[in-house]
Amino acid sequence: MKRMSKWMGWAAAGIIVCVGSASAEEKAPAAEKKAPAAAFIGTSKCKMCHKPQFESWAKTPHAHALKSLENATPEQVEQAAKKLGIVVKGKAGEQASCLICHVTGHGQEGGYTAEKGKKDMLDSVSCEACHGAGSIHMKAKKEEKPKTINGRPGEAQCLVCHTKVMSPAFKFEEYVKKGVHESFKKPK
Ligand code: HEC
Ligand code: HEC
Ligand code: HEC
Ligand code: HEC
Repeated sequence: MKRMSKWMGWAAAGIIVCVGSASAEEKAPAAEKKAPAAAFIGTSKCKMCHKPQFESWAKTPHAHALKSLENATPEQVEQAAKKLGIVVKGKAGEQASCLICHVTGHGQEGGYTAEKGKKDMLDSVSCEACHGAGSIHMKAKKEEKPKTINGRPGEAQCLVCHTKVMSPAFKFEEYVKKGVHESFKKPK
């Protein structure tokens, strides 16, 4: 009798272990699931719903950042290349090593390519360069929208491009005032 119950105890423990490990296995893949990453949709889409920000942004130097590459003098190109420690062969407006900071989402899903540049208005430092890719935001229900995009881009977003080498005079407080669209949020 004593033996029997001991055996049953082990069996029960075995079942518990089995159940325990099975459910742990089931849980593991779910826990590894990542939130789906948003893709770039382009300024032409943001513009449909955020016209005041768009019009105000269009007056900032960011809105013609690709033109600055295309119109850069050979001296300017050489200067920039020297700062970056690279050699530019061909047009500056076609160099990945220049485009990376002068367009939006270069080399990323839905981001700038020569074909999509003008059509989707990714041919500049546009909305998604600061706010992040917007495909999820665009499709989200109205009440979910604020949660699906970075509504307060901070210094970290600027420093991706305004590096010490390329923008030595960068100061967040000063640059925010002259480089970001006006803010149209109604005072609370
Ligand atoms: C179909 C319409 C629509 C499109 C397209 C759209 N938005 Fe929005 N967006 C909204 C609405 C609605 C809100 C919520 C406004 C509110 O609550 O005041 C919002 C809110 C925001 C906010 C503020 C978030 C916060 O924290 O309050 C930002 C920033 C923003 N959108 C940026 C963008 C950008 C960048 C794009 C393009 C990539 C874009 N939106 C495309 C409708 C849109
Ligand atoms: C790491 C990001 C980055 C890279 C890479 C980069 N730039 Fe720029 N570029 C900037 C920033 C930021 C500014 C604005 C600097 C400021 O005013 O503080 C700028 C400004 C410029 C300007 C001056 C625009 C004007 O009219 O005032 C030119 C021209 C230019 N870049 C050319 C180039 C060329 C050519 C390359 C490639 C060899 C290049 N850039 C690569 C970030 C970058
Ligand atoms: C250089 C970075 C930058 C770019 C480019 C940019 N934004 Fe913003 N945006 C900001 C910052 C920073 C704030 C927060 C402003 C604040 O705190 O008052 C903001 C706030 C907003 C808001 C919240 C409401 C408001 O007006 O403050 C919306 C909506 C928005 N941006 C839409 C856009 C759209 C649409 C574009 C492109 C046409 C765009 N932004 C381009 C940096 C940027
Ligand atoms: C994707 C790269 C990128 C990001 C992100 C970015 N910038 Fe820029 N910024 C540039 C480039 C490139 C220029 C030069 C544009 C031109 O003149 O062609 C520039 C120019 C400027 C200028 C004009 C400087 C001058 O001398 O007139 C200001 C101000 C500025 N940026 C502020 C900001 C702020 C503030 C942020 C963050 C909220 C930011 N930028 C984010 C690339 C970027």
